[in-house]
Amino acid sequence: MSYDTILVDTNGRVGVITLNRPKALNALNAALIAEMGRALDRFESDAGIGCIVLTGSERAFAAGADIKEMQALNFPATYVDDFITSWERLSRCRKPVVAAVAGYALGGGCEIAMMCDIILAADNARFGQPEIQLGIMPGAGGSQRLTRAVGKAKAMEMCLTGRTLTAEEADRYGLVSRVVPLASLKEEAMKVADTIAGLSLASVMMTKESVNRAFESSLAEGIRFERRLFQALFATADQKEGMAAFAAKRGASFTNN
Ligand code: HXC
Repeated sequence: MSYDTILVDTNGRVGVITLNRPKALNALNAALIAEMGRALDRFESDAGIGCIVLTGSERAFAAGADIKEMQALNFPATYVDDFITSWERLSRCRKPVVAAVAGYALGGGCEIAMMCDIILAADNARFGQPEIQLGIMPGAGGSQRLTRAVGKAKAMEMCLTGRTLTAEEADRYGLVSRVVPLASLKEEAMKVADTIAGLSLASVMMTKESVNRAFESSLAEGIRFERRLFQALFATADQKEGMAAFAAKRGASFTNN
């Protein structure tokens, strides 16, 4: 399968998608979003893949949706084509996705990072929703996911003024899981992804589903949902293996059964 706007690679049980439109700072055009969707389809259907890393270049994770492509759009066209629907593919990915963010993560770039499950930020990362400066607003979940991540006050300031956050601020506000030196970003992201990919896939996928349910349900419903998934995991061979390995003081060897 060939791609023009992304690089797709595997490393053991980790699938790696690298956004690759360097001349446009990885601006997210329709072709890139479609190719990313195809790569996610491939990794999701591959039993040999347990975790996915999404990354960009040192200068830009992604500087937003492609403004030059959007410029000529009008309302009927965006409505009839349901512009942005295809972006949701990433948020529907059932396997965990680690975003390794260096440089600009602006507008749609910040939004796709927030669709991922863990954001690791390089110390040069910059996060922002500058759409307001273009006469539009966040359209791929920015006003919703950012608000849930950093709270109303900070989300309002970012969305209403376009102010960008440094990596250190993003860390302090809870937008990213941690900040690492730029030089070690990819290595750290691979370590995290490798760890996840070595675990039992069913427990990993159910954990992702359960954490995400916290954003969509009441506490009581979320706890009921969590309990059912927790109980279901006792039907897996991996639960027997994980606990037997602990008792025998040896490493677990999961088979995804
Ligand atoms: C199209 C873009 C782009 C974008 C950068 N480029 N961002 N092209 N869409 N979002 C292009 C520039 O036009 C330029 O091309 C090249 O990348 C390098 O960018 P420069 O501006 O020359 O670099 P620099 O001076 O270092 O400034 C970097 C920057 C700036 C601060 C990131 O490029 C910038 O402000 N970009 C736009 C950020 C933005 O507004 N993002 C939100 C987009 S709206 P040439 O050909 O001139 O070399 C959005 C909506 C999402 O994301 C909603 C869901 C769809």
